[in-house]
Amino acid sequence: MNLPDIRHPFARTNIQTIRQRAGLLRELLPSISSIAEICCGDCRAQYDIYHSELGMQRFRGLDLSPEIVEFNRSRGIPCDYGNALNGTVMQSFLDFEAIFFGPPLSLECDGHRLIAFRDVVLGFLPFTNLLLNELSYPGLLVLIGPRSTTPGDAQWIEYQVRKARPDYRLRLIHHSYAAITGLGEVTELRLKYVELWFQVGQDPQWEVRESKGT
Ligand SMILES: C[S@@+](CC[C@H](N)C(=O)[O-])C[C@H]1O[C@@H](n2cnc3c(N)ncnc32)[C@H](O)[C@@H]1O
Repeated sequence: MNLPDIRHPFARTNIQTIRQRAGLLRELLPSISSIAEICCGDCRAQYDIYHSELGMQRFRGLDLSPEIVEFNRSRGIPCDYGNALNGTVMQSFLDFEAIFFGPPLSLECDGHRLIAFRDVVLGFLPFTNLLLNELSYPGLLVLIGPRSTTPGDAQWIEYQVRKARPDYRLRLIHHSYAAITGLGEVTELRLKYVELWFQVGQDPQWEVRESKGT
């Protein structure tokens, strides 16, 4: 398993990216009140920003690292321990309006040695198979991909998803840039994530957007 060593710095989403996500959520689901983060890591920033910017009522994380679960809980953040590829575990997240899936995108979660979209473990395909196909999740799903994610990767995963869920579609490909690291250090503006936003809907058009800081 690709778990971070909590004693060393490991990849965390930066606050600019999380604010960009909050802005997109406000636009796509204006009355959203519940968000889950699967493979949540240290999710203090998500918890704080979604509360302050979206007035979120309910947030819950899931992680397979007992240290990370304990870390989040000790800061008052609801966080379950479990494997994202376990159907019984994921069943309890089906009533969240939005789910972010943020698996490790670098070796040992160090944020440097990136893994290609189709090589990420635990993979985007088994996760979408479980959540969308087996469990029929009806909400908004965001797959957080590495910055190397290509339009071909997006087309491939959408094709796989729509084989089982023709009611579901890739709504938005979001290139998230930031000039800050997950630890808050200032850097040059860099592409950090390529996020694939899926929603129920029929319109076959994807939208592609870039956000550069907030
Ligand atoms: C580097 S973090 C990403 C955290 C967060 N999504 C973000 O973007 O800041 C990836 C997390 O996935 C967790 N993880 C790895 N395998 C997992 C699994 N099978 N089920 C649940 N969590 C897992 C790791 O413990 C780690 O905390």
